[in-house]
Amino acid sequence: MMIASTKEYLQTPCGVKIDMRTGELDDPDNAYDRLLSQMYTMYEDRVAAEKMLADNPVIYRVYEKKLPELSGELQWCMSVTMPGKVGREYYMTKGHFHAVRDTAEVYLCVGGEGYMLMETEDGQVDAKRMESNICVYVPAGWAHRSVNTGNDPLISFCVYPGHAGHDYGSIETAGFRKRIVEIDGKPVIIDRE
Ligand code: F6R
Ligand code: ZN
Repeated sequence: MMIASTKEYLQTPCGVKIDMRTGELDDPDNAYDRLLSQMYTMYEDRVAAEKMLADNPVIYRVYEKKLPELSGELQWCMSVTMPGKVGREYYMTKGHFHAVRDTAEVYLCVGGEGYMLMETEDGQVDAKRMESNICVYVPAGWAHRSVNTGNDPLISFCVYPGHAGHDYGSIETAGFRKRIVEIDGKPVIIDRE
């Protein structure tokens, strides 16, 4: 559906069916796959990542509705991170700050297991467990990345302010301070080298 103007957005309530087992939206306005080739430099084991490029797996998928990018409005989407590892490091989203730092986000996990890895520009770090029925609050100013440490897709319903925007640049340049890797069959949070 084409939406002509912001005004029309504001006058158009919507109700959308979500398949919580898969994260799929009925009639999404945008659905995209993030492939390994689009983020392989973010993994600690570059050799393992480059080897996997031949298959170029889907690391995560996002389903979105087109909603007004305005303060006072909300954006929401479904985020689905696939199970898997690059070397010993679990599949994860690229992660970002919101371009408008003073904007928070809520993630309601509806399937799978993993962590929400978070950090601030002044060096605070945190990781919150994600599994079905856990709601993670990402405060304003915290970069966030979903990490799937399980065997099934990690599925979340995400809601954030309409005008938040996304800043991927600082994470792409510096990376997160922490990584989540498998050691002796278990997820362990380690320092980035
Ligand atoms: C929106 C948000 C999520 C992510 C999604 C993909 O602010 O945090 O909807 O956009 O999980 O992750 P990124 O955006 O880091 O590629
Ligand atoms: Zn976000």
